[in-house]
Amino acid sequence: MMKLVLIFSLLAFASSLCFASDPSPLQDICVAIKDPKSAVFVNGKFCKDPNLARAEDFFYSGLQKPGNTSNPLGSKVTAVNVDQIPGLNTLGISLARIDYAPYGLNPPHTHPRATEILVVVEGELYVGFVTSNQLENKLFTKYLKKGDVFVFPEGLIHFQLNIGKTNAVAFAGLSSQNPGVITIANSLFGSNPPINYNVLTKAFQVDKKVVDKLQAQFWWDNN
Ligand SMILES: *[C@@H]1O[C@H](CO)[C@@H](O)[C@H](O)[C@H]1NC(C)=O
Repeated sequence: MMKLVLIFSLLAFASSLCFASDPSPLQDICVAIKDPKSAVFVNGKFCKDPNLARAEDFFYSGLQKPGNTSNPLGSKVTAVNVDQIPGLNTLGISLARIDYAPYGLNPPHTHPRATEILVVVEGELYVGFVTSNQLENKLFTKYLKKGDVFVFPEGLIHFQLNIGKTNAVAFAGLSSQNPGVITIANSLFGSNPPINYNVLTKAFQVDKKVVDKLQAQFWWDNN
């Protein structure tokens, strides 16, 4: 009996470690509010007095519209997170629509606070993520067609490439009200001010010429 209790408490502890994401909400609702007057502070953003919450606080309209993919990447992410739906505050979830022109790319990036689950609703995508150094940077990839679903684990670098001659559309659920986006190339070669070339030449094992060229480039943000 004691052994069983011990096993269960270990399992509970392990699962609390494994499934950690945004903190669980400690109340039914916590609608984000900009004006702190008559607000209650919980975490992340101020909460509106729950008695003043309205259906509109939990509503967004516009994801039927394709994002504008006329840019160097040929892709556009339309995020619906706590900034668009204040009612998502403290709930640990959000959504995105991603549009891809033919051969458009959502370039390698990570979400520091969220796992992503993506469903293709139009077109065909080549997608993948890379595990951390501990798991020897193993690449997991898949070709997805309409109706296919793929998961990008929290924090790992991932990408999607439209491999078809037609537009592609995907929707993604993310396990944070504010997943964050770090686009790898933009962070490393497009930072402001630029990272010292001694750092980048050694990190990427290339000449200064290569680093100069990459840093001179304009790094489009498709978010
Ligand atoms: C899409 O973006 C391009 C480049 O920024 C712009 O020239 C064009 O007007 C935009 N198209 C629409 C429909 O907004």
